Amino acid sequence: MNFLCGRTILLGVTGGIAACKVPFLVREIVNRNGRVIPVLTENAKKFVTPEVLEVFSGERIRELFERLSSPVHISLAGECDLVLVAPATFNFIGKIHAGIADDLLSCLIAATRSPVLFAPAMNKNMWRNPVLQRNIKELESLGYKFIPPGEGPLACGEEGEGRMREVPELLLFVERELCPEKRLSGKKVLITGGGTEEEVDPVRVITNRSSGRMALSLVKAFFFAGAEVKLIMGRHEVDIPSIFPVKNVRTVEEMKEAVLSEFEWCDILVMAAAVSDFIPERKKEKIKKGKEITLKLKPAPDILS
Ligand SMILES: Cc1cc2nc3c(=O)[nH]c(=O)nc-3n(C[C@H](O)[C@H](O)[C@H](O)COP(=O)(O)O)c2cc1C
Repeated sequence: MNFLCGRTILLGVTGGIAACKVPFLVREIVNRNGRVIPVLTENAKKFVTPEVLEVFSGERIRELFERLSSPVHISLAGECDLVLVAPATFNFIGKIHAGIADDLLSCLIAATRSPVLFAPAMNKNMWRNPVLQRNIKELESLGYKFIPPGEGPLACGEEGEGRMREVPELLLFVERELCPEKRLSGKKVLITGGGTEEEVDPVRVITNRSSGRMALSLVKAFFFAGAEVKLIMGRHEVDIPSIFPVKNVRTVEEMKEAVLSEFEWCDILVMAAAVSDFIPERKKEKIKKGKEITLKLKPAPDILS
């Protein structure tokens, strides 16, 4: 599944510190056989140079008034499958909300009929500012899409909501937008994944080789198809993108409890976890080495029944 292959992404870059992540975003799309046309605001050029984006994308950086006979903003607006603005500043979101078109990026957003996706990035107080929140709400009602920012350390030194999502997460939203069928729009899907582990003694466990890869593939497929997804994960080796809510569990009992507590929420339950069939009798003390031992195993509860 690679919804970026052969598609043209118009990547708008505005003047926020997160613009320094953009070369990696461009490289990732190009590596996945997508075409990226970067368009920078004047202030974005203070955070990432046009030359760097030209090298990473292989595309010439365009300007609004470079060709008057056939305006660049009109041709680019028609050429792209999707416009992604990353990072999207407080200022730029306000401009689009106000219907201002005074540079190449805002002109082509005014002219395009392709989906437009904003990845806001800013200080937490700017993010919570009611003017911005009103602008986002009203733009959403007009069909513009927003990638909710994450929480964590911000460039200004504070901590909180407002961080632009990392590149792999931005791409999940881009791919969802490019996915041709949204057959599961409005559906809630609960997915279990990874492997459970059962304690033998205070330091040892019995587990299995489940990596969680199957659950990760499933969660992406359901997300691309438009569903709202939640995960319940046992021990796993894969990184789960932070846009997906995850409840981490260890044992079969914990897995069962988590599934039962979320069961009412979901329309579809996919049980991809490798759940232990047996639970060992747990020793209170660490079992001493050097002697042959016999482990007594009792059947684990069957979550499906
Ligand atoms: C060092 C620095 C970092 C900034 N980071 C952000 C930011 O992350 N998000 C934001 O909305 N504005 C940020 N700003 C403010 C914008 O650069 C400013 O609003 C500018 O007018 C945006 O222009 P543009 O939207 O046309 O690109 C920052 C300004 C400075 C000086």
